[in-house]
Amino acid sequence: STITELETLLAELGLKTPIPQFPAADVLRKPLDIARCYLADVFSEISESDVENAYHSINGPNNIPMGDLAVVLPKLVHGADANVLAFELMQKFPAESPLFLLPFPEGVHLLIMFRPQTLPRLFLPYINDRKESYGRDAVLGLLDPSSPDSGRKKLVIEFSSPNIASEFQGKHLRSTILGAFICNLYESMGWDVTKLNYLGDWGKPIGLLGVGWEKFGSEELFQADPAGHLLEINHKINDLFVPEQVASKKARDDKKDSAEIESQGLFAERNAFFKRMEEGDEAALAFWKRVRDNGIQNYTRFYNRLNVSFDEYSGESQVSPETMTEVEQILKSKDICEESGGAWIVDLKKHGGRAGVAIIRDRAGSTTYLLRDLAAVLERHKKYAFDSMIYVVASDHNTHFSRLFKILELMDMSDLANKLQHVSFNAASQLSEKVGHGEYTLDGILDKCQSAVEESLQGNPERATLLEVAKGTSDLGVAALLAQELSARRASDHGFDVSRMTSFEPGTGLDLQYWYARVCDSIKILSNGASSSDNDVAALEDEDEANLLRSLVQYPEVTHLAYKTLEPAGVMVYLFNITAQLCSYFEAGRDIPKSADLPLYEATRVVLESGLKLLGIKPLAG
Ligand code: ARG
Repeated sequence: STITELETLLAELGLKTPIPQFPAADVLRKPLDIARCYLADVFSEISESDVENAYHSINGPNNIPMGDLAVVLPKLVHGADANVLAFELMQKFPAESPLFLLPFPEGVHLLIMFRPQTLPRLFLPYINDRKESYGRDAVLGLLDPSSPDSGRKKLVIEFSSPNIASEFQGKHLRSTILGAFICNLYESMGWDVTKLNYLGDWGKPIGLLGVGWEKFGSEELFQADPAGHLLEINHKINDLFVPEQVASKKARDDKKDSAEIESQGLFAERNAFFKRMEEGDEAALAFWKRVRDNGIQNYTRFYNRLNVSFDEYSGESQVSPETMTEVEQILKSKDICEESGGAWIVDLKKHGGRAGVAIIRDRAGSTTYLLRDLAAVLERHKKYAFDSMIYVVASDHNTHFSRLFKILELMDMSDLANKLQHVSFNAASQLSEKVGHGEYTLDGILDKCQSAVEESLQGNPERATLLEVAKGTSDLGVAALLAQELSARRASDHGFDVSRMTSFEPGTGLDLQYWYARVCDSIKILSNGASSSDNDVAALEDEDEANLLRSLVQYPEVTHLAYKTLEPAGVMVYLFNITAQLCSYFEAGRDIPKSADLPLYEATRVVLESGLKLLGIKPLAG
């Protein structure tokens, strides 16, 4: 699909070629940009506005009430009266435009609709020629066409990152799902993506678990159920530890020194165990390795069910002591950190940051979470030479990451800090309340989704064929869970409701799969029977067909926006919208496929399949 091919088609449809050129337009990837170019050309002429300004006063479907595109009148002509201007432009607009109907006013906008005769003739071949590449690579200039490989940018993305000493929590599940989506998104936009799972596999919580093992561990119970036994130990030792933590917190709240309390009891035992780990004590490390290996084994099994994979299980334990020393040396030599009561700290207020003290090395001489993260950035940059690194971590880490980035700046590493992004999401979702706090275990949650799918299908015989298409409930259960999680914006503390998630309400995973399967089915029937010569494009000018196609044309705008915002919800809403169009299309009597509809079905399949894959949902068709 070259520009020559596109322009040949446009000329056949009666449009002047070459396409008016705009630096921001990406006509080979975004069909609406073709329309923007012609529209800007017309509007600059009839309003005597600068062409570039005309181009940028055209809004796409994300920002308009209805229509295919809209001209923002006050932007087109500054200070103009919108009503007067609208009237004037409507009169001057070329009535014979092959691409557009006459525009109509709506508030400060002039709304533009495609001419139904041109719509299928231009955009169906556009989508069907591109197939799975449609909607991808939408970012202009990202790929250097002369060197497709060396020109690729490198993303390192860290997500999921559970803590091996405690339960896999709802926030880790949300990070897993969101992270996988962001990976797909970047890959589809041409990035080279490396996926890291940065396990919480070092530090005092492991020390505490070690103490717990010494008190309650049983080789026999571990052999029988490693994960269950470790979890039980974790609960027991934490129950014992809570009173000490409360006392220490109270001391600090009363502005008293908590050092006294923390120098005895489980505090001291925990710190000593962790110290042994840091000093390379064999027995302590053997225990640690057991916990870690067992954790990875469990997570991997779960990720497989979700269709998620990682390139590397890194983790806090993998950060080298040498790099941490290097970081500390820089911090000391630049006078960024200082000693305070035996600990090494950064007083951020002194350095123009927000108030707060960041601890680099604690009183016992142990490394901190922050120091490990600082060193991890340097190591990853050395190893991967990334252009960008994303952390998909809950909002409970907002302060942590802003400190991390701030300290890197203080270390004169702004270039590096600018490549880092914390993609935050609400830690307090209802999913978080249910997972990791006893109600659901890691596998339990997927099992629950699966059995709910089964129930839902039993109550809906009309759609029970989906079960055959999907060859069982496992993929459907995952689709249901992912669709619900990804329908929420990152900041929202959306609901988590297994029965709603597995219903056939519009916008659920099952509903999406149902419509996808139905489209594939129609394609199968048509490709077997009909010859392509009796295709009659004119039939596709009808309203339902035209509306569906209008939505399909918007797909690259949707992926582009998702790439900018890293919000999955927009893609989800868009796919619901497509299925709603499909539904009314089928209800209007198109349930018996006509051969003329084949290209439209194909374009619909292309978009649904691409969108589902982007979200990490496996498209299921028989
Ligand atoms: N293990 C952490 C937690 O469960 C998340 C890891 C965040 N990533 C990082 N580089 N600090 O809260």
